[in-house]
Amino acid sequence: MKNDPDTPPRCRAEIDLGALERNVNALRGLLPAGARYGAVVKADAYGHGLVPVVERLAARGVDFFGVANVTEAAAVRRIDPERPILLLSAVLPEEDDCLAPYDLTATVSTGEEVVRFDEAGRRAGRRLPVHLKIDTGMGRLGVWHEEAPALYASLVAARHLELRGVYTHLSSADCDPNFTERQRLLFLDTLDKMPGLERERLMIHADNSAGFDTFDPERGFNAVRIGLAQYGVIPGEHAKHLLRRVELQPVCSLHARVTVVKTLPAGAPVSYGQTHRLERETRVAVVSAGYGDGIHRACGNRGSVLVRGCRCPILGRVTMDEIVVDVTGAGAAACGDEATFFGARDGAAITVREFSGWCGTIPWEVLCAISRRVPRRYRG
Ligand SMILES: Cc1ncc(COP(=O)(O)O)c(C=O)c1O
Repeated sequence: MKNDPDTPPRCRAEIDLGALERNVNALRGLLPAGARYGAVVKADAYGHGLVPVVERLAARGVDFFGVANVTEAAAVRRIDPERPILLLSAVLPEEDDCLAPYDLTATVSTGEEVVRFDEAGRRAGRRLPVHLKIDTGMGRLGVWHEEAPALYASLVAARHLELRGVYTHLSSADCDPNFTERQRLLFLDTLDKMPGLERERLMIHADNSAGFDTFDPERGFNAVRIGLAQYGVIPGEHAKHLLRRVELQPVCSLHARVTVVKTLPAGAPVSYGQTHRLERETRVAVVSAGYGDGIHRACGNRGSVLVRGCRCPILGRVTMDEIVVDVTGAGAAACGDEATFFGARDGAAITVREFSGWCGTIPWEVLCAISRRVPRRYRG
């Protein structure tokens, strides 16, 4: 029987694991000795691919992994038998009995969870590690800070639980430093109301990528939970000085191919709904990626792609499998050329942040939106 012929991808994400490793090293280099680095690898490692990312980071010796749910956690555990895995989202009752076999650390926000996890520990015949989460203004998971001391008391009294950490989540570290500082103060003040809390023995953490800049070990914080920055993307305006201290390198770039080049006359409409009409005779190229690959519709008529080192504006609406771009400036653009949505190519570059702006969204969503149809190609 003949082998199946190779089917080369029309759209591919290139993942530079070397850059990931360098970013993590650089970020860890900014932390004081003894501070722990939690690598957030939820949502398929922000679209980069959970397995290769975890394999690389486990080899780099990060201190713990952060995931959203037990399915992701089980995948990490298969790769890394030892390292702590913190479940950042809540555990459903039917997932309680996954905690012990996969040796997972659950996040506690409610009294009901204390009872459930304690019971799961009793069934497993061991103490289950947990982190207590305090809501200081995110309004999502975590016990409201005023109720935290009471929940802490019931947690330390639970015979089959072991408190390993206390944390909070910053809601606005990328845009509101004053609110972030208020959250930190509220958190530290709440810790002071927990009798017998052994801060040195526990992980005390608040910082995501945007908070990293104001991480303060002097006040007792001794761990961070980093996602976006390790993938080489600066989280926002207020974290820009992070750039000055470390040179983060983009890990993911996204490319498709030019399939057809043609000339359309002035006045010709382009793509669904005729939202663009050419002002002059124009050399256009059809590029083989669309919203089926994770290219947001919102970047139609707003964004550009790189072809032959030239920024080529996207004309008209993004369709499921294709976009149309103006290649007037791209020399002899031809079928087979590469078109880059974000990444560096031929001396030019588009950042994930810039691309996300055209899409009216945030870098996190752009990375997570790259669809399953897009093969990830690893290097470095
Ligand atoms: C609880 C928690 N901690 C840390 C992170 C990592 O955030 P970032 O990607 O901004 O570093 C996330 C991501 O959403 C999160 O939900």
